[in-house]
Amino acid sequence: MNLIVCKNYEEVSAEAAKIVFEQIKQKPDSVLGLATGSTPEGLYANMIRANQAGEISFRDVRTVNLDEYYPIRPENDQSYRYFMNQKLFLHIDIDRSNTHVPDGTAADPQKEGLRYEQLISDLGGIDLQVLGIGQNGHIGFNEPDTELDAITHKTDLTPSTIAVNSRFFASEEDVPKQALTMGMRSILNARKIILLACGKEKHTALQHLLNGKISTHWPASLLNLHSDVTVICDTAAREG
Ligand code: GLP
Repeated sequence: MNLIVCKNYEEVSAEAAKIVFEQIKQKPDSVLGLATGSTPEGLYANMIRANQAGEISFRDVRTVNLDEYYPIRPENDQSYRYFMNQKLFLHIDIDRSNTHVPDGTAADPQKEGLRYEQLISDLGGIDLQVLGIGQNGHIGFNEPDTELDAITHKTDLTPSTIAVNSRFFASEEDVPKQALTMGMRSILNARKIILLACGKEKHTALQHLLNGKISTHWPASLLNLHSDVTVICDTAAREG
């Protein structure tokens, strides 16, 4: 596991952007696995800036997002589809039909999981997966448990995740209790992975990732099974 410790959030975002740009320069039609949450917002801002400055084009890039609340409509301003459109897709030269998010309106979540897996495979697999990390060590919405799902599936959110994510909603009751998320295999199949972690709230989860041990109770720790993971964090997340 490579570890890059940065002074602050701005540096973390810039380091992540460097890796994304390098990937796209090497393969202009790269498949990027993207994440939501506040952490990657700085990366997305860098992508927008570079695109608008004519330094990089996303014309041929394809994207697959990690997760989506369930059930939720894409036009709901709390949906991850809405987030991605607002924070990135609407501001860069990507073809929006090449951007994919699990369908929060799917009547049959199991079928949607299989469709999403097929889609990733039809795209040729994920070249570079961007991840954040939950305070409880979740990646995507793979929540701590005695067993974890391998492929894209519907999952219950833990009370702690509902509480943490309630900051984006009017009240805790408004937070959806379920989500669709890529599974551990979907994530670990990516050719390259970067995980961004900022702030002391992420320290414990990060410790469980960096100590080299694997536990389904700290889902991010399974990234130790992958041979090309770069963790980019700030000193607050590293030192607690
Ligand atoms: C959310 C998302 C994750 C994200 C995490 C951390 O619940 N499902 O993909 O990495 O929580 O979010 P933040 O970056 O806002 O701390």
